[in-house]
Amino acid sequence: MPSAKRSKIAAFGSAFPEQVLTNLDLEKIVDTSDQWISERTGIRERRKLRDNEQNSDIAAAAALQALERAGVSPMEVDCILGCTTTPDRWMPSLASAVQAKIGANNGATAYDVLTACAGWMTGLQAADAYVRAGVYKNVLVIGSEALSRFLNWKDRTTCVLFGDGAGASLVTPANVGDPGEILELIVHSDGRYGDILDLPGCGSQMPPSLAVLENNLQYIRMNGQEVYKHAVRNMVAVCEEALARRKLTVEQIDWFVPHQANIRIIETVGKKLNFPTEKVAINVHKYGNTSAATIPTCFDEYVQTGKIKRGDLVLMTTFGGGLTWAGGIVRW
Ligand code: ACO
Repeated sequence: MPSAKRSKIAAFGSAFPEQVLTNLDLEKIVDTSDQWISERTGIRERRKLRDNEQNSDIAAAAALQALERAGVSPMEVDCILGCTTTPDRWMPSLASAVQAKIGANNGATAYDVLTACAGWMTGLQAADAYVRAGVYKNVLVIGSEALSRFLNWKDRTTCVLFGDGAGASLVTPANVGDPGEILELIVHSDGRYGDILDLPGCGSQMPPSLAVLENNLQYIRMNGQEVYKHAVRNMVAVCEEALARRKLTVEQIDWFVPHQANIRIIETVGKKLNFPTEKVAINVHKYGNTSAATIPTCFDEYVQTGKIKRGDLVLMTTFGGGLTWAGGIVRW
C-alpha cells in the first residue's frame, strides 16, 4: 500500500444504549441528589446498557454508521482499534467482537487499546501513523465503553459519574488540506500515578476470588480530587504543546472538544486556555463520562447538528487512568 502524506477522519458514527438513567433515578439507588450531581459534575443523565446488551453491540453500531457515512464497506476495513477499558471479555478483544458483528471478514487486524479515557486519541495516533506509513488504508478507531458494568452502584462517589456509549471514526489517507485532516496528535502517560484511578480486581494481580468481590475490588476506584488536579494541569499543558507545534493560537481555533468527564474540569481547562464558552463543545449533561467514547461522540454530535463546519479547526484533549492524556488538532 502506498504511504500517504496525511491522514483524515473520513467520518464519525455514534451509538448509545436506549436506557436512560437520570439523577432522580440515582437518588433512589444511593444517598445522592440531583442538585449535588448537577452542581459538581454538570451531569443530568447517562445511558446504561441493559443486561442483554454488550459493549460490542454499541461499538458495532457506531462503526457501521461511520462506514456508511464514509461510503466504505466493512470488507474494505484493514484495521480495527477497539479503544476501551471495558471489553465484552478479556479475550478476545472488543475489536475482534466488533469485527465479527460488522462483517469485516477480510482478515483485518483487530486489537484493543487500553488507555482509559485517552483510548480514542491513542488509537487515533496509531491509525494516523499506520495510514501515513502505508501499512493500512481504512482504519476504524472505536472508543466504546460499558462502564456501568464496572461501577459499584452503592458507591455514590463514582457511580454517578459514568455512562455507556460508543463513538467510532474511520481514518483514511489524505492530502494536505483535505477535509478532516489530522494536523497534530500528542499522547502522554505517567505510570507513577496509576493508583489514583484504577480498577484493581480480576486482573492477574488480583484474580477473581471471594475476597476481591467482598471488598468491591472489581469496580472502578478514584481519588476524585487528585484526578481533578492532574486532569486540569495535563490537559492545559498538552493543548499548549499541540498549539505550539502547529504555531496556532487559541484565537485561530474554532472549536474546543475536551474529554467530557465533568463540567467543572471542562470549564476550568477552557478558562485557563482562554477559550470563550461558546467555542467549547459540551454534552456531558446527557451522557456523563463515557471514557474513551466522549470525544468522538461529542465531536460527531457537533458535526451532525451543524455547529462544527467543514474547514473549522478543532482542538481536542483528554485525560484518564494510567495516567494518560492527549491533545490533538483536526481541520474538519
Ligand atoms: N452525592 C452526594 N454527596 C456526595 C456524592 C454524591 N454523589 N459524592 C460525594 N459526596 C460527598 C462526599 O461524601 C463528601 O461528603 P463529606 O464532606 O460529608 O465527607 C462531599 O460530598 C464532598 O466530597 P468531595 O469528594 O470532596 O467532592 P468534590 O467537590 O471533590 O467533588 C468530584 C467530587 C465531582 C468527583 C470531583 O472531585 C471531581 O470532579 N473529580 C474529577 C474526577 C473525575 O471527573 N473523574 C472521572 C474519571 S477521570 C477522567 O475521566 C478525567
